Amino acid sequence: MNINGKHYHTIWVKENNPETIQIIDQRSLPFEFKIKNLKTIENTFQAIKEMWVRGAPLIGVTAAYGMYLGLSGLSENGNLKNQIIDFAKYLESSRPTAVNLKFAIDMVLEKISGTEFLKEKIELAFKTANQLKVNEIENCRLIGENGFPLIEKISKAKKGETVNILTHCNAGWLACVDYGTATAPIYLAHEKGIKIHVWVDETRPRNQGARLTAYELGQQGVPHTVITDNTGGLLMQKDLVDMVIVGSDRTSANGDVANKIGTYLKALAAHDNNIPFYVALPLSTIDWSINDGIKEIPIEQRDHNEVKYVEGWNKNKITKVRIMPENSSVANYGFDITPAKYVTALITEKGICGANKPDIEKLRK
Ligand code: MRU
Repeated sequence: MNINGKHYHTIWVKENNPETIQIIDQRSLPFEFKIKNLKTIENTFQAIKEMWVRGAPLIGVTAAYGMYLGLSGLSENGNLKNQIIDFAKYLESSRPTAVNLKFAIDMVLEKISGTEFLKEKIELAFKTANQLKVNEIENCRLIGENGFPLIEKISKAKKGETVNILTHCNAGWLACVDYGTATAPIYLAHEKGIKIHVWVDETRPRNQGARLTAYELGQQGVPHTVITDNTGGLLMQKDLVDMVIVGSDRTSANGDVANKIGTYLKALAAHDNNIPFYVALPLSTIDWSINDGIKEIPIEQRDHNEVKYVEGWNKNKITKVRIMPENSSVANYGFDITPAKYVTALITEKGICGANKPDIEKLRK
């Protein structure tokens, strides 16, 4: 997608320098546009853990490049098999909820298992990371095509009046490589001239909605309004929301959806107001091994300072201010689970399906 009219992906191999992976540093957006170099597996771990990159599909692609960088730093001596297992465990421990991380690492492990030679393993890991990146771009493009008719239908029913879509967190191209998941149908509808408007939940504590979704929608010229996290329910009661589209970090085989904390409350409000609640995700976000998302999906708990302080732009720099008493205790759960029964449908690269085991299982074929 575009930033100031120039096309970017969120991650790429540096030109003429395949030992360096470059990323957009999302900690600085929307205030400053910075690019960071990742040269080692440790850089990659840090970039994922500290959220220089974030969003399930992008975490996966970054981890795949991390495996490549880790292998590139090895010498022929030493126990290659153990080192590779350690790399995989290390990267997997960077963030617990987005299953794309494991999906990507497993994909690299599988591809490199075909040879004993380090040089060949490095080449295969590089190819696999590049391929995963291409796959995730195409997945998002197809999610856009598959989700577009849902918006078009509402637009027709409203006789061309503006379709109001509510989204939570950032499930946009910044969370992926291009297009985004929840935003892909939105961008396509906008491109095709359908009148749309997006309600953007600010998404405390890190404000990915206010900082990233608002930024990227603005860059593509999509009308949008940022709201506090507690506003969605009122807007739904007042008929100001036609549909909700969110992304997912991990969806269990029975259709329970883990996504940024606060998603569940939007699903409850949507259910109470008969508003369709869609989840857009690539199949790399489905955890086929889990059948009860509420019990089994691990929920990340993050640094208390993310709640205690708010970050903003002041006097030409990013500044933090404390917003609560110094000694009050804090809990910072990163994700929640929306039970499948509140999900109208899943929008995937393979089509739209019910959030239930038989329908999801059909996508696998
Ligand atoms: O903590 P984050 O910013 O990595 O959380 C991101 C989200 O919850 C997104 O909604 C999710 O990854 C879907 S991304 C296409």
